[in-house]
Order: sequence, then structure tokens, then C-alpha cells
Amino acid sequence: MNIRVVFKIPVLILGLIPAYCSAQKLTVTQLQCEHLAHPLGIDNPFPRFTWRLEASTNGTLQSAYQLFVGTDSLAVAKGTGTEWQTTKVSSAVQLITYNGTTLQPFTKYYWRVSLWNQNGNALSSAVSSFETGMMQEKNWQGTWISDSENIHTKPAPYFRKQFETIRKIVSARAYISAAGLYELYINGKRIGNHRLDPMYTRFDRRLLYITYDVTHNLQSGQNAIGVLLGNGWYNFQSLGVWDFERAPWRNRPAFCLDLRITYSDGTTETITSDKSWKTALSPLVYNSIYTGEHYDARLEQSGWNTANFDDKKWQSVINRQAPAKIISAQAMQPVRHVEKLVPVSQKQLNDTTYVFDFGRNISGVTQITLDGPESTEVRVIHGEKLYPNGYVDLSNVDYFLNTATQLYDPFATDIYRLGGKGPQTFMPHFNYKGFQYVEVSSSKPLKLSKQDITAWFMHSDVEQKGNIKTSNLLLNKIYAATNASYLSNLFGYPTDCPQREKNGWTGDAHIASETGLYNYDAITVYEKWMADHRDEQQPNGVLPSIIPTDGWGYEWGNGPDWTSTIAIIPWNVYLFYGDSKILSDNYENIKRYVDHINQLYPTGLTTWGLGDWAPVKSKTPVELTSSVYYYADVNILAKTAALLNKKEDAAIYAALANEIKNAINSKYLNLETGQYAEGFQTEQAVPLYWGIVPGELKIKAAAILAKSVEENNYHLDAGILGAKAILGALSDNGQAETAYKLATQDSFPSWGWWIKNGATTLYENWNIDLKRDLSLNHVMFGEIGAWMFKTLGGIKADEAQPGFKHIKLEPNFMLPEMDCSHNSPFGYIHSSWKTERKQIKYTVVIPPGCSAELSLPAKIKIHNAGQRFNNSSINLSSGTHQFTLIP
Ligand code: BGC
Repeated sequence: MNIRVVFKIPVLILGLIPAYCSAQKLTVTQLQCEHLAHPLGIDNPFPRFTWRLEASTNGTLQSAYQLFVGTDSLAVAKGTGTEWQTTKVSSAVQLITYNGTTLQPFTKYYWRVSLWNQNGNALSSAVSSFETGMMQEKNWQGTWISDSENIHTKPAPYFRKQFETIRKIVSARAYISAAGLYELYINGKRIGNHRLDPMYTRFDRRLLYITYDVTHNLQSGQNAIGVLLGNGWYNFQSLGVWDFERAPWRNRPAFCLDLRITYSDGTTETITSDKSWKTALSPLVYNSIYTGEHYDARLEQSGWNTANFDDKKWQSVINRQAPAKIISAQAMQPVRHVEKLVPVSQKQLNDTTYVFDFGRNISGVTQITLDGPESTEVRVIHGEKLYPNGYVDLSNVDYFLNTATQLYDPFATDIYRLGGKGPQTFMPHFNYKGFQYVEVSSSKPLKLSKQDITAWFMHSDVEQKGNIKTSNLLLNKIYAATNASYLSNLFGYPTDCPQREKNGWTGDAHIASETGLYNYDAITVYEKWMADHRDEQQPNGVLPSIIPTDGWGYEWGNGPDWTSTIAIIPWNVYLFYGDSKILSDNYENIKRYVDHINQLYPTGLTTWGLGDWAPVKSKTPVELTSSVYYYADVNILAKTAALLNKKEDAAIYAALANEIKNAINSKYLNLETGQYAEGFQTEQAVPLYWGIVPGELKIKAAAILAKSVEENNYHLDAGILGAKAILGALSDNGQAETAYKLATQDSFPSWGWWIKNGATTLYENWNIDLKRDLSLNHVMFGEIGAWMFKTLGGIKADEAQPGFKHIKLEPNFMLPEMDCSHNSPFGYIHSSWKTERKQIKYTVVIPPGCSAELSLPAKIKIHNAGQRFNNSSINLSSGTHQFTLIP
């Protein structure tokens, strides 16, 4: 048993030695607007500003700030903000919302902040910037255009426009939105390094546009703009079980573009998409986001996107209706090629077939250089498994594709037809896959070597914010696999798996959201995805189980155990960033959702949901897990109401939360023993983790849970809802060692069992011998990553002071060595130790402006500076603190 004791002793009395004794060095860094550095194309009329204080001495605080926003960078540098200038505000906040003159579209704003520390010393940040975009739909000048083909036409369309500029250009911006996917070119050069733009949304309600600085892509004289359009989720041509081919928005892809040029004389000119553009079918003869791409190099038109190309044979474009009323800025981290992988091995199976192994499972694309006779057809098949004979095995993931279409639309396969004019490099434009192995087969013998093929790990390019390294190799591998699955499933919205479905399954996403937020700067993706939620929500509050959706998922799988994303994700983002915007943006939606469940299930118990998906053996009643998620939503709603000063709602929903809790406990809890239902792992873990268990019974309920784990010889008997809860339920209630044994188990069923069998990502099912439902890249069992931060390193957010302004530090020293860090909005939090000669050398770093309460397991004693302290908990100010602990 592992109970924590909390004493409040100011750190100075303990005489801890500050890590840095040199003269204080203070800087302000990480200036961001809308959680992005120097963003272009911001539409929010009230953007948020954040910054970070870096300090070399312990105990540094921001006592006041002053912010300057203006259009003249020099004036801002000198301390004049023509658009907004706050007074010197006595406050420690490092996130404020713009409140100046009305921001104008297409305008670059500069900003900086002055800060004062606790001694009144002032410092100033460098000048940063943000630039507004369209701000309102009416500012678009272009027309939505397309070609005259219909939804069944397979080849992707090219578009081009030539124009002349003579005057001196000082800046140029391209604003482009597409229904479908696009690649934009100017004078033959691809613009930007994003992939799969615009991100997937509910296309008939909201489309995103992207802004590029193209000042240096234009040339004096003749210029050409080229656009290649792909289908994406908009014109879904594969036939699967999710009905995307029948999506209400489906149409031939279209786009709208404004190229806004500012000349040195101050005038502007906008080149727009309109009837003057020309179009032709491209060599990209088929593209499906779901299956693959087919490219015929014989159909290439060299120089199609450059000036002086002869487009006489090209067709006229047609005008199209704007696909949605809302066209808003894509203010988020884009999908990119984030990591390059080279094959770890290559096998030639015969003179026309090679198989490459990339060593780990990823989401992304392959890029291949091929040289062979004209018309040679090359198939590049991507999969997670191999058959015993060495060929790629797709049977674990290809079964939702209509088999009748497999002939012309094979799964996970790119098809290239060679032009026969020497070596050429191919890569899909509008598709990605989930894979580790690649089979390349050709209609004629080809020579291939490892150098000819690379793989790109693609995902939303969110910066890494967390890191865990332990002395346990298995845990390190589980941690890496969890992150790999999280990233493989982040493509502008969280997905379930990158190979089989690419669906925005809600349940998978809320389960993995803490793991994601500990490790990655994912706020912009979640903010966008919550807008997708708002787009999809029915007036009565109901949400679909996959988001975005074509309409599928309002019928199945959308109970509170899945669609609680609407409450859980905003709350988690708030905890990790201390930014309440996502809560206020979604407040009415959470409320509508909760009210709907309340109307349908006035007793407080709901049977709506899928229950503990992918279990081992024991089956927990759906009513128990779904009612607990319903409680979690109402509880979040009540807390949010209080936070947003909606007192009446706060009281109503706090009372409702209590009723639900009582209803669950009166039906399922044995008040004598602390057992829920049959006492299965999920039955005990879920109420414990989500705060249903009455205080006095927690220890008993956790003991029953620990016993079940022990009786299963430290194995899981839980599906995804149980696996989300079990490690925390044990650790937070005196059973951390049992949680640790479970987390480091390596026989079936366990996370370690996957790793032992070669996993580099998390799987969809514990049983690795299944023939179906065994994607090898699902993140829905991914809470273990968050648990390593919360329970091993012990870095926990405090909802009273979110964003890690105040940190609950509760490490557990079960490992001889541990390094756990999280780069919070205020800076790096570090909790690390090494065990040397039976002493634990424990180092903690708390960011400037933050404080922490360190509480240690009762049996650990602090031994510092030659003294022994019998306390187990101390308050820490910012800076570095070192402790010697005696276990
Ligand atoms: C998906 C899951 C999802 C589940 C819900 C599966 O097909 O891959 O991750 O949560 O269905 O039932």
C-alpha cells in the first residue's frame, strides 16, 4: 500500500539549495498568437496571445505585464501599440485575449509584451507578429471553379492560369480553399510543405482555407498558377461500409483562390479563380484517400504549371456554388512529412516482386524511384503484416472495402505506369496509408534496391512536449509505441487507425487525449475538431460516433461512452493549457448534449453506448460504464458553468451529477464491501477513476480491483474503457505497485505482450491471433502513456490552477531511474531521478511563475543537506530543486 502524506512546509525552511546562484537572467520567449508562432491568415477577431518567462533563478514570478499591438513594428518595439496597448496590469497571467480596435483583414500586426518580475525588474520580449486572413466570407473575390466532369470521373483535374506582373511587388499572399484536396503551384514550384490540405471537415457546413506567403514565388513578367485537385473525403470513389460514396456533400472537387499582391506603390491586385482559368485531366488517373493512387507517367504534360505552357488544348472551367457557407481559416498545425524512414531490409521474392521492411509501423506514404520500359505497371502495396511466404498480408485491414471494386481499386496500393524515359520518382499526392511492409510488384522485371524507396511518417505536425525515459526497456517501448499510434492517428482530426478506416472515432480520441496532451502540442487540432463536433451536433444535442461524418454514426456507437468527447476533450485541453476558450466555445453544446441524455434517461442511468469495447473475457454492463461517462460530462459541465460564472447552471448540473452518481451507486455498489456489480476489473476501475466511489469506500474498492488483477496473475481483464481507468484507479488509491506490475506485464493480455511480439504501435485487440478487428495501429488502449506521466513521473495538473500553473507532483519510485518532462505553457516541468547506493537522487524543475506541491509515498524519507526530514510533502516554488530520498 502506498499512501501519500501531505504536510505544508515552505521550501525555504528546508533550506534547499537553488540550482543557479548566478545573477538572475530573465527572458520572454515562445510568443504565440492563437497557439501558433507568427501565424498567417488568422480569422479570430479576438486572437489570444501567449508567452513564456525563462529565468535562471528559483522563485521567479511575473508580477505584471503590458502588451502592445500595432501595425508598425518599430512603434511596437518602442512601446506604442496603435491598435491595442494595455496598461501595466498587475497579474501573473501569460495568456490574454485581444481587446483593441477592430482587426482588419489581410493585415500584418506586430506585438510584444513587457513583463515585470516579483522585484519589479522589467524586461521586454522581442517583437512578434500575426497576420489576419479573410476574416469574413465576403472578402473572397474568387469564384468556386471546377471542370465539367462528374463524380465518377477518375482522373484528377489540373487547373492553370497565366498572368503578368510588372510593378514591384512588396508582398503576395495566396488564399486557397478546396472542396477535396489540392496542391498549389506557382511558376512550377509547389507552394508550402503541408500535406492533404485542407483538413477534413463537414464539407457542406464548413471548409477551411490556407494562407501562404508567396512573395518570392512571383516574378516580374509572366507568371503561372497551377492547381491539382484530389478527391479526399469530398468525392469518395471507393466503396466501403461507411457510405462515404453517398455523402451528402459529394461532388467533383472544386476550389476558390485569391492571390493578393501588394505593390510598392501601396496598391493591391487580386488574381482570382474565375472563368479565365483552363483545365485538363492530369496523369493522376485515380486517387482515393481510402485506398491509394494510380499515376500514368505517359500522360504527363511537362511544364503544365509554368508560364509559356501551351494550354490551347485545355478546356474552360465552370463556375460552381460555394460548397459551404462558412469558409474559415485553417489555424492549426498542418499535416506534413515529419520523419523519413529507410528500409531496414529488402527481399526479392522473384524477378518482379520485392518486399521492403521499414522496421516500424507508421502512417504516411512511400516515395519510390523507378526505371523501366514504357507502360510497365508497378504496384506498391502497403501493409502491417507479411504472409509466411513473404508477401504483404492485408487481411487484417482490407475487409471494409467492397470486394467488387478491388480489381480497379486495390486496397493500400499505389499503381504507377512508367513513362519509359529514365528514372522517375513517384509519391501519392492525396492518400496515405498505415504500414510497415511494402511489396513492390511490376509487370516487367525491374531492378530495385533499398535506396530506391523511402517512407514518410505523416501526421499533424504537432511539436513534441513530453518525454519519458525509464530504466525499464519494456516501458520505454510501450511509451514509444503509444506515441507512434497517437501520431499515426492525428490528421487534422484524431482517427481510429490509419490503414483500415481513418475514421474520427470519438471514443478512441477522448481516451487518448491526455496521452496526446502530455506529449504533443495538440491544442490547435483539438480546437478544430471541436468545431467539427459543433458542425455535426443535431439540434437536440445528439452527436455521431465518428466526426466528421457523412451521416454515418447517428445510429450506432454514439452513446456517452464515445461521444463524451464534447465535454472531455475541452476539459483536458483546459487542464493542459489553462485556456478556457475551448470550454466557452463548446459550453452550449455540452449542455445540449447533457440535457438530451437527461431527457431520455431521467433516472440518471443510461444504457446508451457500446460498453467496454474489445474486452478480454469479463463483460461489464453497458449501463454502468455509460452512466459513468454521463456523470463525467455533467460534472465537467457543472465545473465549466462555475468557471464561466454561470451560477444557476453550476448549481443545476452539480445537483444532476450527484443524482447520477447516487443512481449508479445505489444500483451497482455494495456499500459494505466496495464492490461494483461482479467486481470485474472494468466494473471497479471505471467508477474509481471517474470519481463515483464515495470517499470512504475508495480504498476498499481499489483493494477489490487489485485482488482481481492479482488473481489474473497481473493481467488485464478489460476493454478500452477499463484500460483507460485501471492504472489510475489503482495508483490513485494506494495500489500503485499493482498498477506498475500490470503496466510492465509481458504475457497475454497486456501492453507488453504486444511489444514482446514485435509491436512498435499499439494494437486494436489484446489477442494478437485474431483474423479481424486487429489493426496494428489503434490508440484506444493508449492511456498508459498518460499514466507514466501521472503516476511514475508524477506530473499532474491541478484544475484549480490549470496549465500546470500549480503542479501536483506525486512521483512513484518503483523504477531505479526515470526521466519525465512536460513542456507546459509556462515552461519545462521535470521530474527525474537516479538511484545510487540505496539513495534516490531526485531532481525537480518547476517553470517560472509556477509552484508545485511535492508529495511522496509515505515510506520515502527526504534526506537533504545533511538533515533528515520526516515530512512527505513540500511546497516548491519555480526553479530547480534537488533531493536525496531514502526509500
Ligand atoms: C473502430 C474503433 C471504434 C469502434 C467502435 C471500430 O471499427 O476501429 O476504434 O472505436 O469501431 O465500435
